[in-house]
Amino acid sequence: MNNKKFYGLTALFNTPNEIIKAAKKLSSEGYTKFDVHTPYPLHGMDDAMRLKPSKLGYITLFFGLSGAALALLFMYWTMSIDYPMVIGGKPFFALPAFIPIAFEVTVLLATLSTVIGMLTFFFNFPNNNHPLIGTDYLRSVSVDKFGIAIESDDEKFNNTAVRAMFGSLGAVKVEEIYYPDTETFPLFQKKFIFLLLTFAVITSGTTYFVLNKLMFMQPFSWMMLQDKLIPQEKSEFFADGFGMRVPVEGTIARGHKPYEFKGEVNPSSFLINPIVPSKESMMLGKKKFLTFCSPCHGNFADGDSRLRGQFPNPPTLHTKRVRDMVDGQIFHIITNGQNIMASYASQTSVEERWAIVNYVRALERAKNATQSDLDEIKKESAANGK
Ligand code: HEC
Repeated sequence: MNNKKFYGLTALFNTPNEIIKAAKKLSSEGYTKFDVHTPYPLHGMDDAMRLKPSKLGYITLFFGLSGAALALLFMYWTMSIDYPMVIGGKPFFALPAFIPIAFEVTVLLATLSTVIGMLTFFFNFPNNNHPLIGTDYLRSVSVDKFGIAIESDDEKFNNTAVRAMFGSLGAVKVEEIYYPDTETFPLFQKKFIFLLLTFAVITSGTTYFVLNKLMFMQPFSWMMLQDKLIPQEKSEFFADGFGMRVPVEGTIARGHKPYEFKGEVNPSSFLINPIVPSKESMMLGKKKFLTFCSPCHGNFADGDSRLRGQFPNPPTLHTKRVRDMVDGQIFHIITNGQNIMASYASQTSVEERWAIVNYVRALERAKNATQSDLDEIKKESAANGK
């Protein structure tokens, strides 16, 4: 006998049935500190060993719920207290919009806590050694044998009694297991730590070299690195220090025809409407009107703004004044703006502006329909069988 600390007894069996029988016998005799090792999972083993459900689930549940609560609290604090901001008209605490993040944080904390909890509480991390590691017993049970190990600090443990029981159950080999002389923590071995450090240095060094040096050597060339000025940027090249330049006086950019009545309040002659309304151009006009004009002028140009007083309400476009305007004048107002109404020339193309004009004309006609308009509609519906 040696004077190492005694861990317990192990026994090897040849068949799954024998090991299940052995586990049943041990648990029914009242042993609790024993474990079974098999080359593959065996059905019915949990019952035979009378295993209680793992407590790991409670850790997962606790941290999962904390994750949900933390995420919701954090979003509540940032979005409702620290920096309240109306987004798309939603309330500050918009639960449906917060669900994805709450879900993600729940899953994150639940999974991390499960793994960390398992290692620390159940596997006694950082202790990652066990007296069974490296024994013949463990080698056999990971090949073709079925093994059972009883710890000596089980209350009922008695060396001769347990040996006799293993014998009667048909064990092929019974072994005594001792703790190793010195506790070793492979994790804290200099070799392992050195390996980790080397690995960290090599990966970070390589990443740095590839992303910051290699990619900028010939033949790689990056368009973003050419000499250029981006909008709003300051420039030392020009005397006035502005990066953005106005066109040279007296010149016109290619493909650009300046608007001839720019800045005029009431040009003596207006442009002539070049578009004969078709169904497509009416639909285009409607779309553009609803996008750019309706927020202020209302969906039917009644002047019922949706801006709730954030911008002065415009007049209705059904006044005699507007109805008497020539098409070109409405085009001019859209292109040039009028008093506090800004120009919509940069948002809409020339074609779209004429389409809007035609649509406004259609709205006006609809509001002031004559008997002949109504007769025409009746005729058309009759022809369509409605
Ligand atoms: C930001 C709000 C706003 C938008 C958007 C807007 N308008 Fe106006 N519009 C006004 C206001 C305000 C006036 C009155 C300006 C004034 O005092 O002369 C006006 C005036 C007009 C007039 C002249 C009415 C008159 O009696 O003199 C026309 C025509 C007109 N808008 C058409 C349009 C069209 C077409 C669009 C879409 C391209 C449009 N507006 C987009 C605010 C708007």
